[in-house]
Amino acid sequence: MPEITLPEVELNIYGPKDPVEVPVVENYIITKESSPNFVRHITFDVSGTELEGKIKVGQSVGIFPPGKNERGRDYKLRLYSVSSPNGGEHGKPNLISTTVKRTIEELDNKLYIGVASNYLADLQPGDMVKISGPSGKRFLLPEKEKEFNYLFFATGTGIAPYRGMIMELFEKGDYQNECALIFGCPYRTDVLYSDYFEKMAQEHSNFHYLKSISRESRRKDGSKHYVQTKIKDEEELLLPILKKKNTLVYICGLKGMEAGIYKELLRLGLDEYLDIRKKLPDDLNDIPRNDIKKFMKPSARTFEEVY
Ligand SMILES: Cc1cc2nc3c(=O)[nH]c(=O)nc-3n(C[C@H](O)[C@H](O)[C@H](O)COP(=O)(O)OP(=O)(O)OC[C@H]3O[C@@H](n4cnc5c(N)ncnc54)[C@H](O)[C@@H]3O)c2cc1C
Ligand SMILES: NC(=O)c1ccc[n+]([C@@H]2O[C@H](COP(=O)([O-])OP(=O)(O)OC[C@H]3O[C@@H](n4cnc5c(N)ncnc54)[C@H](OP(=O)(O)O)[C@@H]3O)[C@@H](O)[C@H]2O)c1
Repeated sequence: MPEITLPEVELNIYGPKDPVEVPVVENYIITKESSPNFVRHITFDVSGTELEGKIKVGQSVGIFPPGKNERGRDYKLRLYSVSSPNGGEHGKPNLISTTVKRTIEELDNKLYIGVASNYLADLQPGDMVKISGPSGKRFLLPEKEKEFNYLFFATGTGIAPYRGMIMELFEKGDYQNECALIFGCPYRTDVLYSDYFEKMAQEHSNFHYLKSISRESRRKDGSKHYVQTKIKDEEELLLPILKKKNTLVYICGLKGMEAGIYKELLRLGLDEYLDIRKKLPDDLNDIPRNDIKKFMKPSARTFEEVY
């Protein structure tokens, strides 16, 4: 196993109390027209700021929506993962992108519209945004990233960091190891950046692109297609990769997805991806999802960012 050394990163070059204003240069929808969800790819120009060339894919930036909350206080910042590669969007170190889903909820006959995501989604090129960051120092590609195999698990906008990571691996020099992207979303209309990933899979036999669409069909046993069920359904492809000594697992997206992935890894006896803290019950399904962290945590080979 090559040593897993994470790159040194600068944190909070602009802190939460000291954000910087930058213009939006792109903002376009990436969900299909018939989708009930709205996800947008948004790019900021950080030229002339200390952020230029300093943000690593896997890190996040803070966004400050204008206005006040119901208690009359300024809205708090929300974090958004960077989806451009280290060299910047379109190969320009001054451009950084993110992937934003409009959050909308109805509760007791009342509609709640998420503050920051809808603010961002409404912005036009030229509009100015206050940002801070970067934040995050673990959910990163290691140094010597090309010496590893990867299993990237994403649900929904959890795809954001992998877009840039896959660009880093496949668009900069020769990458010979194996990389599988396992993406989960409710409907086919919500598959994000699929044109890019399909193209990469066609061009690179060592890139494997798997989709788990949860609400259109069921597995043979009646359960939903989730990212973790791909570990079983595509075992022939994924198990040999997982068994390699130089493989790393990344998990990003919906809180709770990690529990299903941990259980599948343990079912296959792949304890090396986990740090087991407590004696496990014979049936792993006896562990309630919210208690999973009492039993196990990610090991040095597993990277996780779920919210
Ligand atoms: C490290 C990190 C990275 C992230 N990266 C991304 C990313 O790349 N892309 C992305 O889209 N998101 C990302 N997120 C999530 C993001 O930070 C926001 O939490 C998300 O966009 C919602 O923020 P908001 O301001 O739009 O919603 P908020 O205003 O914070 O509301 C949150 C939710 O609650 C609902 N709501 C609001 N008020 C009420 C109420 N009174 N009763 C019931 N429901 C209510 C809203 O409709 C909404 O669904 C990330 C989070 C973290 C921690
Ligand atoms: N860096 C980060 O930390 C980061 C970055 C980006 C996004 N996020 C977070 O990621 C989440 C993405 O949400 P989204 O609305 O974009 O996703 P989404 O499009 O709704 O997709 C989520 C998918 O996951 C499935 N799912 C539900 N429970 C699951 C479980 N226990 N295990 C595996 N899959 C499960 C859903 O299936 P069903 O709904 O059909 O059951 C659905 O197919 C948000 O909470 C966001 O805050 C975090």
